Amino acid sequence: MSKKILLTGIKPTGKMHLGNYLGVIKPALLEAKNYQNFFFIADYHAVNQVREAKQLREDIYQVTAVWLACGLDSEKYIFYRQSSIAEICELAIVLANVTSKGLLNRGHAYKAAMEENLKNQNDPDKGVSMGLFNYPLLMSADILLFNTDVVPVGKDQVQHVEIARNIAEAFNRLYGQVIKLPLAKVNKTVEVVPGIDGRKMSKSYRNVIPLLEEGKKVKKAVMKMVTNSQTIDEPKDPAQSNVFSLYQHFSNSLEQEKLMEKYRAGGMSWGEAKTILADKIIDYFADFKKKYDLIKNERAYLDEVLHKGAEKARKVASGNLALVKKKIGIL
Ligand code: TRP
Repeated sequence: MSKKILLTGIKPTGKMHLGNYLGVIKPALLEAKNYQNFFFIADYHAVNQVREAKQLREDIYQVTAVWLACGLDSEKYIFYRQSSIAEICELAIVLANVTSKGLLNRGHAYKAAMEENLKNQNDPDKGVSMGLFNYPLLMSADILLFNTDVVPVGKDQVQHVEIARNIAEAFNRLYGQVIKLPLAKVNKTVEVVPGIDGRKMSKSYRNVIPLLEEGKKVKKAVMKMVTNSQTIDEPKDPAQSNVFSLYQHFSNSLEQEKLMEKYRAGGMSWGEAKTILADKIIDYFADFKKKYDLIKNERAYLDEVLHKGAEKARKVASGNLALVKKKIGIL
């Protein structure tokens, strides 16, 4: 029996952080056991944000090395760069013809940009590129080309997966049941990964704790976490603490019980609580970091891994695209 298909991508736009790991990488790799898997680097998606070739190239290698270091098995799973699969772009062109503009008008990134412009009494489309507007269309092609069943994503990407579903339905209405309808799978933890300022951890808030960086940098970010102003002696409520909330992702229940007692007993400063957290994070990632340091500058190796993955992905992609092209009368 053939397995269902799981697919997800990460955009290479700057340094990866704990939110990426807990929200996408970890849950996706856990789910992977039950599926046939496609993991990719969404490099064409990043062009809309990263305007420097050198930077983008670095970011692509970084994301690649992080995925591999965190346990992505590139022999078992198909791991590739979006830009290696020209069929994705071809499918995006085809899908554009069954996608109503109104559907993309509702895309949250486009809407946010437009509302910001209106607030500032600018032209609503000021600074809006077609790359931004079409982002959900390209993402739909990423997903639909591989007949994906499930897409593990953070909460902010659910709308995009729903748009992909709508586009697939529009295509199927015209041409028959050709494209599979995908479903988003959201990991609940992603909603509660706090950044150092207490808001959701996100690059755009500049509140991240870096992933697989030097221990010093991890510690520095953790020590900046916002807390209340309770003194050392005061008992602290773990349920109300960002510091404890983050600790839970990296510890077992026994460790959590013990630390909760320490919080409630009083006598522990926030500095100490943060040190405990930082050490825990560093310890949790120690093996991943070793692997990361080993491969992060092995560019030929990383290229080779992605190249092999692209060959596998292209086989599936070209077969599926050919079917679509037949259905529409191009082939
Ligand atoms: N838009 C996703 C993000 O910003 C990345 C992405 C691109 C993606 N294409 C995808 C995720 C397809 C899942 C499936 O995180």
